[in-house]
Amino acid sequence: MNSRLFYAVIALLLVSSIVFWYNMFQEPTERMSEAEQYEGEITLTMYHGEGCMCCVRWAEYLEENGVTVIDKLVENPHEIKREKGVPGQLSSCHTGIVDGYVVEGHVPVEDIRRLLAERPDAIGISVPGMPPSAPGMDAPVSREYQTVLFSHDQMSVYAVHE
Ligand code: CU
Ligand code: CU
Repeated sequence: MNSRLFYAVIALLLVSSIVFWYNMFQEPTERMSEAEQYEGEITLTMYHGEGCMCCVRWAEYLEENGVTVIDKLVENPHEIKREKGVPGQLSSCHTGIVDGYVVEGHVPVEDIRRLLAERPDAIGISVPGMPPSAPGMDAPVSREYQTVLFSHDQMSVYAVHE
């Protein structure tokens, strides 16, 4: 290999690794905002138990963001979770069903629109627990939380939120 070619190869490797690491370290929220968003009509059925005010606030938040919510007050909110296969560690206060997908807990609307655009092979998405800064919780704190994509045997981080 002559030396000019050698340096050309080194330069190429250098540039491609810089591009690679640059993309790796970009903010996940930046990559997320590039995700495709379903712009059509959305109707979500929300199952929740009595006396859950954060459920009602999450439904209001969705309505404000153009989603029609059918409110189902149920005696046992765990029944639908069991029926749909929501893992215990991903359970939250309410369960939404939209187009056959489960939307568990305080999920931001952009994740729902992304789910409906991408239509992954999965049961649905969940924001486990009740993170204080998630929509419908609305505590005046900024703490990072995750939306998790799940199927019967797999879980992965779908989005990271502030
Ligand atoms: Cu809640
Ligand atoms: Cu709730």
